[in-house]
Amino acid sequence: MEQTFLMVKPDGVERGLIGEIIGRIERKGFVVREMKMMQASEELAKAHYAEHAEKPFFGELVTFLTSGPVVALRVEGTDAVSVSRLMIGKTKPTEALPGTIRGDFANTMSENVIHGSDSVESAERELGLWFQGQPVNA
Ligand code: PPS
Repeated sequence: MEQTFLMVKPDGVERGLIGEIIGRIERKGFVVREMKMMQASEELAKAHYAEHAEKPFFGELVTFLTSGPVVALRVEGTDAVSVSRLMIGKTKPTEALPGTIRGDFANTMSENVIHGSDSVESAERELGLWFQGQPVNA
């Protein structure tokens, strides 16, 4: 079984989409192993987006992620990383297909409702950052 890190971003929480998003994940057959609503610190947001530190929008990413509470999720299932990325949809609004989370609920590159790890390695790193490596149900 593979695990991934998913996060309902501040806009998703603000818009009341937590249940919708977790419902889609669960109906697909994935299991939520750990979950917490929290306010990310600037330090955590910078660490989370460290690979984008040189991008011109890095400051915007950090400001947005710390702008309100998020819901961090440890999700498990077969091919959880790649399948959840398919369910999330593309970052570019013009490429995010209807039926995907972003295709149905987001229309900007930044305020796009959900984050999902883009590889097994990223998932391990991000789960370690947000859950400090200790799954409650392990
Ligand atoms: S990249 O450049 O291909 O690595 O970018 P991508 O993986 O598509 O996106 C990485 C995260 O950055 C956000 N993003 C942006 N925010 C603000 N402005 C612009 N132009 C922009 N482009 C990408 C995007 O929402 C991704 O956030 P996460 O949380 O990783 O999904």
